[in-house]
Amino acid sequence: MSEGLFITLEGIDGAGKSTHLDWLADWFRRRGRTVRLTREPGGTPLGEQLRALLLHEQMNPDTEALLMFAARSEHLARVIRPALEAGDVVISDRFTDASFAYQCGGRGLAEDQLAILEDWVHGDLQPHLTLLFDVPDDVARQRRESARAPDRFESEQAAFHDRVRTVYLRRAERFPARIKRIEGHGSIEQVRARLTPHLEACLDGPA
Ligand code: ADP
Ligand code: TYD
Repeated sequence: MSEGLFITLEGIDGAGKSTHLDWLADWFRRRGRTVRLTREPGGTPLGEQLRALLLHEQMNPDTEALLMFAARSEHLARVIRPALEAGDVVISDRFTDASFAYQCGGRGLAEDQLAILEDWVHGDLQPHLTLLFDVPDDVARQRRESARAPDRFESEQAAFHDRVRTVYLRRAERFPARIKRIEGHGSIEQVRARLTPHLEACLDGPA
């Protein structure tokens, strides 16, 4: 049986990550793998209810971080861990890097506080590969403008998204083996071509 693979997609809102989800799933399916596509916050019935609250209800930053991890705990228990144990490829649109980027970078929570939650909820598990789609906020903002009504995070000002991006980039420097920065400018096809080497390396496993 194949080893389970856990892949996460990250980036500021509108960076273009969700656009590649189906293509990524097909890439692994063509290589004979069973793929589980999922997202955060969400991914389970309870998690999707928490997502609706998180995206639309006002709340203080601690509550926001705790609810993100509550949804994540459920997601890990019901979806991510069972799928990995079955040898599947799990592709999640966002995971804990988003909590560091948005709740710490965006909202100003302390990273060591968040690290306590990370350790509690999945101290034993990290993604094998994280694709960080990176564009400046003015590019992401233009891409977002065509989207439906903005949620609580999408309606934040440019400075918030700049801080989120800064934390993402800092994490990519800190965890270079796991987090791969994908230059997000150019056409969808051009961005896609930048993904393939990382997927191949991930299938081949650690050197
Ligand atoms: P994210 O999931 O990062 O928030 P999406 O994948 O939903 O972003 O993309 C946001 C918008 O930008 C969508 O309308 C999408 O079609 C468009 N988009 C995605 N990638 C590109 C690209 N490389 N060039 C132009 N538009 C793009
Ligand atoms: P996302 O699904 O990417 O939004 P959309 O589908 O509308 O593009 O993510 C929802 C929002 O949740 C996004 O703005 C980032 C935020 N978020 C956090 O603030 N912390 C987290 O831990 C996660 C997983 C998401």
